[in-house]
Amino acid sequence: MANQRVVLASRPSGWVSEADFRIEEGPLPRPAEGEVLVKNLWLSLDPYMRGRMSDAKSYVKGVELGEVMVGQTVGEVIESRTEKLAPGDKVLTQLGWQLYGATREATRVDEKRAPLSCYLGVLGMPGMTAYFGLKEIGQPKAGDTVVVSAASGAVGSVVGQLAKLWGCRAVGVAGGARKCDYVKRELGFDDCVDYKAGNLAAALKEACPEAVDVYFDNVGGEIFDTVLAQMSLLSRVVVCGLIADYNATEPYRLRNWRSVLVNRIRLQGMIVFDWKERHGEALEVLAGYFAEGRLKYRESVLAGLENAPRGLVALLKGENFGKQLVRLA
Ligand SMILES: NC(=O)c1ccc[n+]([C@@H]2O[C@H](COP(=O)([O-])OP(=O)(O)OC[C@H]3O[C@@H](n4cnc5c(N)ncnc54)[C@H](OP(=O)(O)O)[C@@H]3O)[C@@H](O)[C@H]2O)c1
Repeated sequence: MANQRVVLASRPSGWVSEADFRIEEGPLPRPAEGEVLVKNLWLSLDPYMRGRMSDAKSYVKGVELGEVMVGQTVGEVIESRTEKLAPGDKVLTQLGWQLYGATREATRVDEKRAPLSCYLGVLGMPGMTAYFGLKEIGQPKAGDTVVVSAASGAVGSVVGQLAKLWGCRAVGVAGGARKCDYVKRELGFDDCVDYKAGNLAAALKEACPEAVDVYFDNVGGEIFDTVLAQMSLLSRVVVCGLIADYNATEPYRLRNWRSVLVNRIRLQGMIVFDWKERHGEALEVLAGYFAEGRLKYRESVLAGLENAPRGLVALLKGENFGKQLVRLA
């Protein structure tokens, strides 16, 4: 049996392309004492991966040229050198873009509770991001209007559903009629604005006649700027993601910064692993709603490790519809 891995071949400037990656074959890794050998079944593709392809200073170090691309995976233990795990166990790991890997950082996941892919989406890192960002930074009160961008995606879809479950009015912003339709009809948001249809400011005003109390920002750029001008007094902004800027060579420059002062807006950035100690709490809450059928999700699935580069490019262009995954086996 051989391993296959996708490594970073070059650092993109501007838009990432499939040529920035290289697929390599090699022997299966041998687990050391305390480690497990895992066969990866699902690979998560996430927007943050674009940042890791750069060597610019960030909250975590980038991937080196020739190194395997980072990423979360769910897989099956095929050999164990620790008492904590046995062959056949399903585990969540950080093994990255490869078919097999050896690690001591593996967390068992329960296949009976939810399909394995959910531990990379609605019950995984994106779900936790939505939970802590909304609860701790957004601090929504019943009756508040909560707006979230990239509303049909992995994080956004959970944000809006939690807002509804917690007694708020949920309004999404998404690209295109199909996604907006899904957000309203399937996910149960009160409204969803299509930013690609033009005149976002007017459409948002119509959807949120009493201003926005919490804005969960997944995208940055012009959408952030537009929502900023429609925030209420003492409102909160969760700065979660800037996907509109990830491939830009110049950052977007805000026009409506004045609204932060006039409305005394509290604006805070969030990185999900700052809440690492409380992941168990989020999993219990999210899995509870999930079991009751009150947390819906959607996935965009590509088959085969060789398609991971194409999947990341598509995700960054907004071509995914739901949590982007690669099925490896
Ligand atoms: N801070 C943290 O700890 C943390 C953790 C997880 C994720 N995030 C961030 O959260 C955001 C969403 O991540 P996700 O995993 O849930 O991805 P996702 O929403 O499932 O997929 C990304 C979506 O972003 C939208 N998008 C892409 N380019 C855009 C642009 N130029 N302008 C506006 N929207 C654009 C697209 O939706 P439309 O077609 O609707 O535009 C696309 O489907 C990302 O910015 C990510 O970096 C942050």
